Amino acid sequence: MTIQCDLVINNVRIASMQNNGEAYGLLLQTSIAIKDGKVLAIFDPSQDSYHSTHRVDGENKWLLPGFVDCHTHLVYGGNRANEFEQRLQGKSYAEIAQQGGGILGTVLATRQASEQSLLASAIKRATRLLEEGVTCIEVKSGYGLDMDTEIKMLKVAKQIAEYLPVTIETTYLGAHTVPEEFRSNPDDYVQFVCEQVIPIVAQQKLAGCVDVFCESIGFSYEQCRKIFSAAQNHQLHIKAHVEQLSDLKGAKLAAQFQALSVDHIEYLDPQDISAIKQAGSVAVLLPGAFYYLNETQKPPIAELRAHGVPMAIATDLNPGSSPVASLLTVMNMASVLFGLTPEEVLYGVTVHAAQALGLENKGQIKPGLDADLCLWDIEHPAELVYGINQHRPDAKWFAGKACKSI
Ligand code: NIG
Ligand code: FE
Repeated sequence: MTIQCDLVINNVRIASMQNNGEAYGLLLQTSIAIKDGKVLAIFDPSQDSYHSTHRVDGENKWLLPGFVDCHTHLVYGGNRANEFEQRLQGKSYAEIAQQGGGILGTVLATRQASEQSLLASAIKRATRLLEEGVTCIEVKSGYGLDMDTEIKMLKVAKQIAEYLPVTIETTYLGAHTVPEEFRSNPDDYVQFVCEQVIPIVAQQKLAGCVDVFCESIGFSYEQCRKIFSAAQNHQLHIKAHVEQLSDLKGAKLAAQFQALSVDHIEYLDPQDISAIKQAGSVAVLLPGAFYYLNETQKPPIAELRAHGVPMAIATDLNPGSSPVASLLTVMNMASVLFGLTPEEVLYGVTVHAAQALGLENKGQIKPGLDADLCLWDIEHPAELVYGINQHRPDAKWFAGKACKSI
């Protein structure tokens, strides 16, 4: 009996990234059948009962799941090259923010930008990520802060998927910083976020998650608690920028709300890790921001590892703390700067990154899951982490369809 499918790829080494006890989830079988955008079967060539007019010889190269960049802010107006120069002269990220620059500078530029120009620049940045094997990107709002610009940003983010072969997951980050017009009453801004914007975001399905910046230059523990409550009441998932510059106990708070992820966490108190583990939250590490801000405090990797907290790696692509449109580069940084093994890094941009977005259908090569796949001309998966700017996928499929140039 032959089974009809849309594509068969033969002669590949499959790093499935499943948790099957083998390094990188290596599978013994070397062929894969794809139908209706999903993996239909993984099989041994001697058992080939699949028929398709499309057949690809993988030439013994490695097949990996498409990468998931689970934390970006890639929709924004302008750039912050001027601020970069100030930092080179010794001003800190926090000082610049306190003086009305930083995120607020980008808010001004994003409010002024047309939807069309925001989309054009976002497509450019997303393209850079896709060229390196990314097939799913999370995009946060947070550079509009007023109702109209936040909605504009989220709509632009969703539109990227109409132009490029990628899944876009959106997150509402109204609590990124207090906008100028609320400077003297930050609690009123929190009320606006909770009572006016979150209900619209939920009703119009503009985002699946709500995020906060829990920090002295962002929002307090109590303000974040109110925002998480509002998000939960509207059935939105929670993500959180926590313990990036200081320990405000934001991760523990986010864990109380079963956050999908706690992100940055350089200043996380190791005693708070068991709460994160219990909540099932993913620890999202952002080495691009660590590198860019010349940070010296590292996230508590050994303790996260010891507790078995899943760790993900993302670019944090944004105009201030991480203008880095390269997931492969931050994958290398995660090993060199944080000491993750190449295998941990690859789990961190596949299955754990998908988990940080609540996506069970991505990040692994497995029957029934999305056929987002990349073929790499390497001798071993560790090579993708070890070098910088050495590799691009030889071939790529998004939802089972071959991607031509990216
Ligand atoms: O993840 N920490 C807050 N948000 C971003 C930075 C945003 C910006 O500087 O524009 C981050 O690092
Ligand atoms: Fe961020």
